[in-house]
Amino acid sequence: MITFEIITIFPEIFKCYFKESLISKAQKKELIKINVYNLRDWTDDKRKTVDDSPYGGGLGMVMKIEPIFKAINEIKSFKKDNPKVVLFTPRGKKFKQKIAYDLSKEERIIFVCGRYEGIDERVLKHLADIKLSIGDYVLMGGELPAMVVIETISRLIPEVIGKENFLKERITNDKGFIEYPQYTRPEVFSPEKGIYWKVPKILISGNHKEIEKWRKKHGKKI
Ligand code: ADE
Repeated sequence: MITFEIITIFPEIFKCYFKESLISKAQKKELIKINVYNLRDWTDDKRKTVDDSPYGGGLGMVMKIEPIFKAINEIKSFKKDNPKVVLFTPRGKKFKQKIAYDLSKEERIIFVCGRYEGIDERVLKHLADIKLSIGDYVLMGGELPAMVVIETISRLIPEVIGKENFLKERITNDKGFIEYPQYTRPEVFSPEKGIYWKVPKILISGNHKEIEKWRKKHGKKI
């Protein structure tokens, strides 16, 4: 079982998402475990402050290092497994299927979700093992990236999708993933008179060699 530890100031964001669908089933089957922690639990002032104004000036607020440091240390101390700490930032390494594959072999991963206009750079420098970006655009925080990364990792864990062969068939030698076009009934779909959207003949032929060739040709390696 792989454990995902999430540090956020918006724990509620995750509740609805993780209690649905295959992610929920995977938790019930104890294939994955997800713990969500409120960063404010590691503050010690009355207002539970997690941010402050930036040195050098500027309009935004910056997330402070102290609560994040304490949270990571305490969550790490729950076990002796020395989990990797993943931090989300648009400046991070681009998240790819291969990274998901590598992370799916971990026992426990701590995710730090930043908010506001940034996180104190010392968190990135000294506390994060991996800095990830899910794309070249700026979101309001690391919560959506955490969900994206957790879902991508989870579906690589045998039995989460329920079809182990599905993974064997799709994972490429360099740990990428092959995605090809798929069709199901009806063989011909006619939304209006004279228009016929057909399933490629090869897929109906029953010729597995040819079907494989077709999938290779039309597939995309990710
Ligand atoms: N935080 C804000 N934008 C992000 C992105 N694109 N990827 C990861 N973390 C982010």
